[in-house]
Amino acid sequence: MSPTSEPRRIDTDFLIIGGGIAGYQTAINLLPLGSVTLASRGSIASGSSYYAQGGLALPWGFNHEAVESHVSDTLRAGAGFCDAANVKVLVEGAEEAFATLVSLGVPFDRDSGGDLLLTREAAHSRPRIIHAGGDKTGSLIVKTLAQNVHGHERFSFLTPFRLHRLLKDEDSRVVGGLFMGEEGEDWISVRAGATILATGGFSALFARTTNPPSQVGDATAVASQAGARLERLAFTQFHPTVLDIPGQTPFLLTEALRGEGGHIVDQTGRRILYRYHPDGELAPRDVVSRSLWLETRERPDAKIFLSVAHLSGEYLRTRFPQVYYHCLDAGIDLARDPAPIRPAAHFQMGGVRTDMDGRTDLPGLYAVGEVASTRVHGANRLASNSLLEALVMGHRVVRAIAGEREGWSRKPPLRGEEDRPDRGWTSEEEASGHLTLEDLKTLLWEKAGIVRTSSLVASGKAQVAAALEGGKMGKSLPKEALLHNALTLARLLFEDLETAPRVGSNYFLEDGTPEPKPMNSAPGSGS
Ligand code: SIN
Repeated sequence: MSPTSEPRRIDTDFLIIGGGIAGYQTAINLLPLGSVTLASRGSIASGSSYYAQGGLALPWGFNHEAVESHVSDTLRAGAGFCDAANVKVLVEGAEEAFATLVSLGVPFDRDSGGDLLLTREAAHSRPRIIHAGGDKTGSLIVKTLAQNVHGHERFSFLTPFRLHRLLKDEDSRVVGGLFMGEEGEDWISVRAGATILATGGFSALFARTTNPPSQVGDATAVASQAGARLERLAFTQFHPTVLDIPGQTPFLLTEALRGEGGHIVDQTGRRILYRYHPDGELAPRDVVSRSLWLETRERPDAKIFLSVAHLSGEYLRTRFPQVYYHCLDAGIDLARDPAPIRPAAHFQMGGVRTDMDGRTDLPGLYAVGEVASTRVHGANRLASNSLLEALVMGHRVVRAIAGEREGWSRKPPLRGEEDRPDRGWTSEEEASGHLTLEDLKTLLWEKAGIVRTSSLVASGKAQVAAALEGGKMGKSLPKEALLHNALTLARLLFEDLETAPRVGSNYFLEDGTPEPKPMNSAPGSGS
């Protein structure tokens, strides 16, 4: 294709961008209403949903008391930053979401009598998390959802394509997207009545992360460039128990291991966390990650491990097969050996601002799942509420779209919106003013990581600004456009950090914030 040729064109009723749980759940619900095109960067294994281990949190029993308790735990974990009304909507939507998954055939784990097995994770006051395949919950849910849409006569799948631009009409309504093939040569314009972002978060913008490499927030930056409001970008959740083996990709060791009695210990076997929080290993995730950071700062020679040696090999192989065999391949038999751990960036509470029906600030554009900021997670998400949000919002957004579609005018995009850009430069270094994507990830980990200071934030922001100003700002080749978008998002994140509240996940060590003191006399230390 020559640089000036027209992109191919597809017309569809609904365009979904992102092929994880939120995207497929939305697709299933939209198919009765019209044609659906789902565009994705890759297979289902390229997104975060596929790797979700812990499970799906539900107000099990679905009665008033169960809902109240789930809401209250969510608010407590969120460190004062949840929208309580939205949390209630989320938790009340769980029963429908669960019933849909069961009817579609998700193989949730059950006991021999057929009752669902419930587990617990940190900051949950009771066991309420269901799981599938032991620790393969995310992959089994997304596979089941995908099987239910692929092959449907109204469903089209576009991959591997990345969103380059959202298309707008003369009324500034979003009317689809312009996509670029992964090699930068194939361009497709998808015109749609409604466009739904389901592209996940951007924790892979941090050097140490549990997310797959595609999760760098590319589409979030594109949405921002189109005028969608982003918020709470500074609310990054760092997961505390991530396998730490030099030279190996970080690997999540699910919080359910602690829910089932796992201990966080140092090299002498001493439990660490009761020094910091009365709930020990079951303290909220942000507290645990910060405690580990503080512990290693106080004792630089300390080595931190997760120990589940109280569980038998047989139990671990059935209940946590993914984790068990991954560790075994790395030479760690969890039935016997403690696993070295270090926190990693895991989830973004903020993103594209939406209401509880998935509407963004831009008409025609909706967002569901981790890409969206619904304010249900506050400054620190309660474990296993993310799959719940993706599923519940995948129902709610479709109801909103169904109610609004009569009023859509289906005007064409403005002239020029579907043009592919000219190639602006030829090397990644030129694009970024000599900062590579890997450099940027290291910069974010070091300057916007678990514990921040104003001077780190200021210098990180200045480096990102210099890279953006130093590079040539054409955006044609995929790698270059990706880097440009990553830098744009990083700049917005640093800007948000400058004004973000100095609490919760945004932990700052200065500006009058008292440092948390270990609770030296707390129970459990030394055991
Ligand atoms: C985990 O399994 O520890 C992660 C679950 C989650 O992120 O909610």
